[in-house]
Amino acid sequence: MRQDRPKILVIDDDPKVKWLLSEGLANYFDFVSATSGTEGLQMVTIEKPNLILLDIKMPEMSGIDVLKKLNKMDNRPEVIMLSGHDETHYVVESMKNGAAEFIKKPFDIKEVEIHINAILEQNRLKQEVTHLRTELKAKSLYDAFIGDSPKIVQVKGLVEQVADSELTVLIRGESGTGKEIIARMIHTISSRRDESFTKVNCAAIPRDLLEAELFGYEKGAFTGAHKTKPGRFEVANKGTMFLDEIGDMPLELQSKLLQVLEQQEFVRVGGITNIHVDVRIICATNRNLEEAISRGRFREDLFYRLNEITVFLPPLRDRKEDISLLVNYFIDKYNKLYQRSLSQISQSAMDQLMVVSWPGNVRQLENMIKQVVVRGDESIINDLLINQPTEPGQSSRVSSYRPDVASPSNPGNANQESYSLKQVVADAVSREEKAMISRVLTKTNWNRRKAADLLEISYRSLLYKIKEYGLNELK
Ligand SMILES: Nc1ncnc2c1ncn2[C@@H]1O[C@H](COP(=O)(O)OP(=O)(O)OP(=O)(O)O)[C@@H](O)[C@H]1O
Ligand SMILES: [Mg+2]
Repeated sequence: MRQDRPKILVIDDDPKVKWLLSEGLANYFDFVSATSGTEGLQMVTIEKPNLILLDIKMPEMSGIDVLKKLNKMDNRPEVIMLSGHDETHYVVESMKNGAAEFIKKPFDIKEVEIHINAILEQNRLKQEVTHLRTELKAKSLYDAFIGDSPKIVQVKGLVEQVADSELTVLIRGESGTGKEIIARMIHTISSRRDESFTKVNCAAIPRDLLEAELFGYEKGAFTGAHKTKPGRFEVANKGTMFLDEIGDMPLELQSKLLQVLEQQEFVRVGGITNIHVDVRIICATNRNLEEAISRGRFREDLFYRLNEITVFLPPLRDRKEDISLLVNYFIDKYNKLYQRSLSQISQSAMDQLMVVSWPGNVRQLENMIKQVVVRGDESIINDLLINQPTEPGQSSRVSSYRPDVASPSNPGNANQESYSLKQVVADAVSREEKAMISRVLTKTNWNRRKAADLLEISYRSLLYKIKEYGLNELK
């Protein structure tokens, strides 16, 4: 099988060398040759050899210069240098420029064969590892992030393209669309995958503590700073830093972050010396940063610096073709986690899921399927969907959870219709209030404090209303 034999390019101004090699090793390799560096470089592109034997002393261009030019090519073949002189500086220069081996002329043909075989084998292994790694990367990426709608395929493609670069990535999308999984995925398939992934949620840390948390502090910087403490940026050195909810970063810290992005440097709170870090930054937000900029709450220069690449995660309502895949994935996940054996949900239950507008996106769907699996009863989907907003024009298709149909737990049951205007208004208000509270609770993943803030009511009154309307996390 001649075509499978490795092809060796000999670049030597002495044609005898190629002749000697092909005489001695014709059974194992195919030889092509060039008698000058310029000719040799052209042949690399045309012949695509598996390995190059390169003479050092040639009249027009030296072997070292050819090697330097070869280094500018992508995936160049390995090079063995040949030389009648084994002066140390030739050997050193060759190795420094990435030659795989150095053989002194006159050579023993057997020795050349051994070297060629060893290098080709090493190369084969390297290629195999790279190949396996790429496959594995791709597999884990596709396994972890469910969806094959065109929008998601596009997102995955972009993630794969940018993961291995050092570009700062801004991940945007509504709550529950999967921003954090994408951030972790970018880290996992980047060359920093063996280093740490550090997540800081800018909205969860009180603003006066965030600076010390991110950048660390020196002893005595403030009351209570008994000793010097490195910040998260220092801990994340060499790895990836995921700044979640970046839209909530206080303005005064934004300039410090900009400095990290531009100079990879910062000063600890209360410190004077610059600390250098090598950190790849990924940010996420569900806020409208453009609007924050126009209100003077977010620095425009920081926005452009963070936004080298934007990954936009579409809301679930815009990629409904992914719903059934996600449902089956979550059934499987929670079957395993809770040792259940729910097989699938019925077509009619699936149809119900298709008309909802999913304000809480994949997180909301996941929570719902978790409950279905745990309770082993798909009929709860109907209950769970009561008061869920549906897509415009679709609500009438599934009358059981039209927002305007009162459920048994709703105040003002439709069967006991009231003609008192006051009562009708009160009922309508209650219905709307319940729907809104339920929506905001889902949106905040039942974070009651956050929900109370959003609803602009006190925490206590929210707790009261939750009780009054019989809302609970499983419903
Ligand atoms: N495509 C997906 N495949 C599988 N699970 C997903 C997918 N998208 C989201 N999820 C799941 O949904 C939940 C929410 O995802 P994630 O935390 O990444 O969302 P997020 O966009 O960061 O939301 P938030 O803005 O509220 O922080 C997680 O449990 C996650 O595992
Ligand atoms: Mg998140």
